[in-house]
Amino acid sequence: MALSFSHLLLLLSCFLSSYAPLSLAHRHWPVGGTTRFYEFKVQTMRVTKLCKTKEIVTVNGMFPGPTVYAQEDDRIIVRVTNDSPYNATIHWHGVRQRLTCWADGPSYITQCPIQTGQTYTYEFTMFQQKGTFFWHAHISWLRATVHGAIIVYPKTGVPYPFPNPYEEHVLIFGEYWLKNIVQLEKEVVASGGASPPANAFIINGRPGPRYNCSKTDVFKIDVVPGKTYLLRLISASMNMEHFFAIAGHKLTIVEADAEYTKAFTVDRLMIAPGQTINVLVKADQQIDRYDMALGPYMSAQNVSFQNISSIAHFQYTGAILDSLSLPAQLPVYNDSLVVNTNLHMLRSLNATNLPLDIDTNLFFTIGLNVDQCHSSNPNKSCQGPSGGVFAASMNNVSFVKPNISLLEAYYDRIHGYFTDDFPGVPLKTYDFVNGAPNNIPNDTQSLNGTKVHVLEYGSRVQLILQDTGTVTTENHPIHLHGYSFYVVGYGTGNYNPMTAKLNLVDPPYMNTIGVPVGGWAAIRFIADNPGVWFMHCHFDVHLTWGLSMAFIVKNGNGPLETLPHPPADLPRC
Ligand code: C2O
Repeated sequence: MALSFSHLLLLLSCFLSSYAPLSLAHRHWPVGGTTRFYEFKVQTMRVTKLCKTKEIVTVNGMFPGPTVYAQEDDRIIVRVTNDSPYNATIHWHGVRQRLTCWADGPSYITQCPIQTGQTYTYEFTMFQQKGTFFWHAHISWLRATVHGAIIVYPKTGVPYPFPNPYEEHVLIFGEYWLKNIVQLEKEVVASGGASPPANAFIINGRPGPRYNCSKTDVFKIDVVPGKTYLLRLISASMNMEHFFAIAGHKLTIVEADAEYTKAFTVDRLMIAPGQTINVLVKADQQIDRYDMALGPYMSAQNVSFQNISSIAHFQYTGAILDSLSLPAQLPVYNDSLVVNTNLHMLRSLNATNLPLDIDTNLFFTIGLNVDQCHSSNPNKSCQGPSGGVFAASMNNVSFVKPNISLLEAYYDRIHGYFTDDFPGVPLKTYDFVNGAPNNIPNDTQSLNGTKVHVLEYGSRVQLILQDTGTVTTENHPIHLHGYSFYVVGYGTGNYNPMTAKLNLVDPPYMNTIGVPVGGWAAIRFIADNPGVWFMHCHFDVHLTWGLSMAFIVKNGNGPLETLPHPPADLPRC
């Protein structure tokens, strides 16, 4: 890898300087074949959905926002100008950002927000990456409407490892609230309780016919009988995992989180926020109009959620369009068996850089907490279980965002913004899934802190993610920035190293793993990308409650293992 990396480095072209009057001399990134330049304006726009008109934040007045197209090893430059009244950042979800941690985007982790009127130019390379990715706002809950696809094609002349589809389409899944989303987040935090369910699920911004006033607000794909289609499924959903199915049609999964998989065919799949899945669908049924349905997968107990499916149409040319379309069969909302069976079938096409020997063993619990009420007005601000305040944590630490970015604090050695004592294993051991201290409302509190875990460059990490039942067990979609990781194992109950079966042959290579409800997942990666990398639950409400932590990966030797200086236009706090 080092060889091709330095080889690419030699190709560093001065072509970029016309776009970026920045400290180019300090930018030691590899440069791919082509540079793709995009201009993003974060702005508000009025939309009418579900019979109500409201203002949403979007990019370039599009919802979903513009698709970014590139090829493997291309350089992507996106100049983001914030014309909205809110602070903004953009994250390039799934992009490993090799030596470009400054362009990663999570607010207060790698950068301060782009304030109203300001501009920040994100520059990164799709180094050895291709497939379906997405970009989204990484601040407050703006991701609800600030999201779009990133499609990275193989290099010219390199075929897909499956027959070329006739056509391809992007389906971005999301949740839509009638309330202003920034306001909603504030209200949820102030209440201490749960988030209200979304008013609708959406496919490419459209709720579909089962919702009020949405008969014509439907996304549709026109298909030619006999042809095969590649659907790029992206979940930009906020607080829900989803089942997805197409009436009468099978889905052949060929890629997950922008890595090829061994092809396997299912009737329906689960997709968690932060995941992307490519499926092939053959239009091999009678000429008609078929539903593509997006419904809830809710594995937690006592949580209210939207139960109406969002419907889009898979419509054969020549179909007679009465008002009927053929309904898709989704599993019941809590069918975890479907989820775990599908996870079991997910295998890498080639697991090339899977670390077999591990030198760093970590164990993080993930789950919800109830903190004690300290308010003089508990009815208003302590609406969590038993009159407490909802929190969420990893290893029982609820992450508190600092006031400057962790990356700046680390890089410039500014003290006082974080501590490096995020524990590698839980401080207390107990029966995480079933046992104490579940039942004592006042003994489920988490510590608050801005704690990071430091990894030496090149560490070979195995991390066990263990769901807890402290409040309710739940399938949490855990996302790691800066890396993909091999999911070498998973199971239900507490992780037991004596009995856990690991797949060290062809585990899937992902960036977001839905850790089985009341269970665990084991992931592996080599910490060879220096910087500060956020890891968190991709449910926004859990992120808000503190279900996150950050890794600092130290520099190695020489410029190819060292994080360059920050760009000159990095936003100031
Ligand atoms: Cu898609 Cu930290 O996020």
